[in-house]
Amino acid sequence: VNVWTRVEALETSMEGKNVTIRGRVQTIRPVGKKMVFLVIRENGYTVQCLVQSQPELVSIQMVKFAASLSRESIVDVEGYVSVPDAAIKAATQQQVEIQVRKLYCVSRAVPNLPINIEDAARSEVEIEKALQEGEQFVRVNQDTRLNFRALDLRTPANQGIFRIQSQVGNVFRQFLLSEGFVEIHTPKLIAGSSEGGAAVFRLDYKGQPACLAQSPQLHKQMSICGDLGRVFEIGPVFRAEDSYTHRHLCEFTGLDVEMEIKSHYFEVMDIVDRLFVAMFDNLNQNCEKELEAVRKQYPFEPLKYLRQTLRLTYEEGVQMLKDVGIEIEPFGDLNTEAERKLGQLVSEKYGTEFYILYRYPLAIRPFYTMPCYDNPKEYSNSFDVFIRGEEIISGAQRVHKPDLLEERAVACGIDVKTISTYIDSFRYGAPLHGGFGVGLERVIMLFCGLNNIRKTSLYPRDPLRLAP
Ligand code: 4AD
Repeated sequence: VNVWTRVEALETSMEGKNVTIRGRVQTIRPVGKKMVFLVIRENGYTVQCLVQSQPELVSIQMVKFAASLSRESIVDVEGYVSVPDAAIKAATQQQVEIQVRKLYCVSRAVPNLPINIEDAARSEVEIEKALQEGEQFVRVNQDTRLNFRALDLRTPANQGIFRIQSQVGNVFRQFLLSEGFVEIHTPKLIAGSSEGGAAVFRLDYKGQPACLAQSPQLHKQMSICGDLGRVFEIGPVFRAEDSYTHRHLCEFTGLDVEMEIKSHYFEVMDIVDRLFVAMFDNLNQNCEKELEAVRKQYPFEPLKYLRQTLRLTYEEGVQMLKDVGIEIEPFGDLNTEAERKLGQLVSEKYGTEFYILYRYPLAIRPFYTMPCYDNPKEYSNSFDVFIRGEEIISGAQRVHKPDLLEERAVACGIDVKTISTYIDSFRYGAPLHGGFGVGLERVIMLFCGLNNIRKTSLYPRDPLRLAP
C-alpha cells in the first residue's frame, strides 16, 4: 500500500485527512517552546507543517525535536490536512497546512550549510531590493554554487534547467528515431584527434599515444560507410580548451547526427530545421513550469523562431555586417562580437533569433568538410546554426572521396598516419553524406537566455575546474 502523499498533490479537498509526506526541511520557525513551524519542500513544492504540543497527541519533546532539526534535512511527516483561514492563506500563499502527529528524521543535514538555498534562488532584482532594504543575506557566487553543486541544484531554477535539458535530449532522440535514424555509441578513446587543432586531451593507451575524442566525427562517418544510413549519438565530447569563456567547456554533451544524402547538403539542413522547430515547440508546450522557474530567477524573453528556419549565406551575413560598418576579413571567421551583432541584425530584419548561415569559407572549416562544387577553392558545403547570435551547431557535407580527404587532411596539417583507418574506410565505396553536431549545454543556455554555460552543465569541466 502506498501511504505517501506528494506535497504537490495536497489540496483543500483533503481537509481532515491523515497524510504522510517526505521532504526536505526548508525553514524552521519556533514560536515559544510549544510550537514550531516547518516548511517542507518536495520536488519544488512546499507545505507548512505545524508541530504544536497537545496533551496525549504531541509531546513537548517532539516540539523540541522539531526545533532541533537542521535545514535541508530529509524528514517524514504524518499529520492532518487543515485549511488555514483567509488571512494566513494570503500571507503564506499556502492552500493547506499539516497538523503534525509524527515526525521522523530520515537524513540529517549539517547545521551550517555552505549555501542557503533561498539565497541561492534570488534573482538579481530580488538581490537589489534586499540590498536596498538592508536585509542580511549572502550573495551566492558562481564558484560557490559549483563547489557545492549538490546544494545549488536544489534551487527551482536549477531544477527547471536540468529537466529542460532532459527534455531536449528526449526530443532529439524521439524525433530522429521517428525519421529512421539509428542511435550509435562511438569510442571516446581514439588514436588521433578528430577535429584537428590543439584542443586535445592526450593520454597513454597501454603504451600507445591516444586522445579523448573531440567529437564522434570520424566514427559517425565510418558508420555511414558501414551502411547504417542515418545515425545519431548523444555523448560526451572532450576539448582541451585554453579559453575561459562563458560558452566553452572542456567536456560537454554532443548531440551528433550523420546521414546519407542524395545530392545536396540542404537535405541535412532540412533535418536541422524540422528537428529544432519541433524541439522549441515541445519545450514551450511541455516545460512551461520549468521555463517559468528559470525565468523567475533569470528573466528572459521567449525565443523568436519561424516555422521555416531562415537560411542566409555567409556572404549575405558578412554583407549585413558591412552595411553597419563592421568589416570582416575576406574568408575569415566571425568573432563572438560579430556573431552577436549579426544575430541582432537578423532579429530586427527577419523577426527570428534562430537561423542558419551556410556556404562558409573553406579555410575556416575542418579538413573533412566538402569544398563547394562551384567554387572549391574558396567555399565549402557547410553551415552553422545560431540562437540569439551564438553558435549552437556546426554541420556540413563531408568529403567522401579518399584521395581528396587525404589531400585536405595534409593541407590542414593533420598527421594522416593517425587517421589512416578512417581514410581507408572511404576506399570501399562511400555514400554521399553530411551531418552536424550540437552542443547540448549551449542549446539550453541560449534558449533560456542564460549568460554562462556553467549554468546548464550539471558538473562543469573548464580549464580551472575538475571537481566536484
Ligand atoms: O563546432 P564543433 O567543434 O563541430 C564539431 O564537433 C563537428 N564534428 C560537428 C559536425 O558534425 N560537423 O562543435 C559542435 C558544437 C558547436 O556548435 C557548439 O555548440 C558545441 O558543439 N561546442 C562546445 N560547447 C561547449 N564547449 C565547447 N568547448 C564547445 N565546442 C563546441
